[in-house]
Amino acid sequence: MSIRKVRKAVFPVGGLGTRFLPATKAMPKEMLPVVDKPLIQYAVEEARAAGIEEFIFVTGRGKSAIEDHFDQSYELQEQLESKNKQEELAAIAEWLPAAGAVAYTRQMEPLGLGHAVWCARNLVGGEPFAVLLADDLVLSDKPCLKQMTEAYEETGGNVVAVMDVPREHTNRYGILDPGPTSGSLVEVKGLVEKPDPELAPSTLSIIGRYVLQPEVFEYLEKRERGAGNEIQLTDALAAQIGVSPFHGLRFEGERFDCGDKAGFLRANIAFALEREDLREDVQSFVNNYATEG
Ligand code: UTP
Repeated sequence: MSIRKVRKAVFPVGGLGTRFLPATKAMPKEMLPVVDKPLIQYAVEEARAAGIEEFIFVTGRGKSAIEDHFDQSYELQEQLESKNKQEELAAIAEWLPAAGAVAYTRQMEPLGLGHAVWCARNLVGGEPFAVLLADDLVLSDKPCLKQMTEAYEETGGNVVAVMDVPREHTNRYGILDPGPTSGSLVEVKGLVEKPDPELAPSTLSIIGRYVLQPEVFEYLEKRERGAGNEIQLTDALAAQIGVSPFHGLRFEGERFDCGDKAGFLRANIAFALEREDLREDVQSFVNNYATEG
């Protein structure tokens, strides 16, 4: 079996972000910063570290801030240059994708994650691709998508990042019916979107990282509605079981649900504690709050 390299990544950023209103009234959720970097930039950097060459954003209303973020900002650059602010210049320039490596398409209506991915079909074409949800942030030594592309190079087919969640939370995620396990890889026997805890086949849930085969577009083409009356990516993936290899990867690292307020705050503290310039200060106020509380 020849396994084709994953060169393209899709970033669905068309959600409404209602859990973060009013912050997301005029600004996309993916521009919320963790410490000093927007969520979407973490996702793009993770994709680059996994060898991704083309970055496809599926945007919605009010997403121009994302387009501006991944572009040159001549005025700001000139001002920083004139003040000889080299560190700041590096911070805004070093991670910019090369010209022509970024493409944008509009979702037009927020009909669900499956619909957002389907909107990227012409830009992805007939090759395997990654999907990254920027509001799932993973703190790890080896970037999560890199762990996944390495696993994919062994297995081919579809690979999703999975982790155990508390049983009472299964109704927030796509949940696996797990088959045989080999190391950190679990064969996917079945998939259910947002099952009630008592009906969930396991507590192994999909987080926002996927390596997918282009055949998934064939199912999404039908635009069938699933849980929450949305076009669900999980349903399209479930249709691939038995058609091509399908694995869940228990990735190494800590995942933060930054679409949720508590998860977002936790991520800010965890990422700040990783930073030499902030660690001591943050550690001391966290300790103070903990003892006061
Ligand atoms: P969420 O379920 O978190 O929805 O989407 P949301 O609209 O972004 O946020 P809330 O729940 O209203 O606060 C999961 C991911 O799928 C993307 C989102 O941008 C997010 O990364 N998404 C969701 C789309 O791109 N389009 C959609 O129609 C729905």
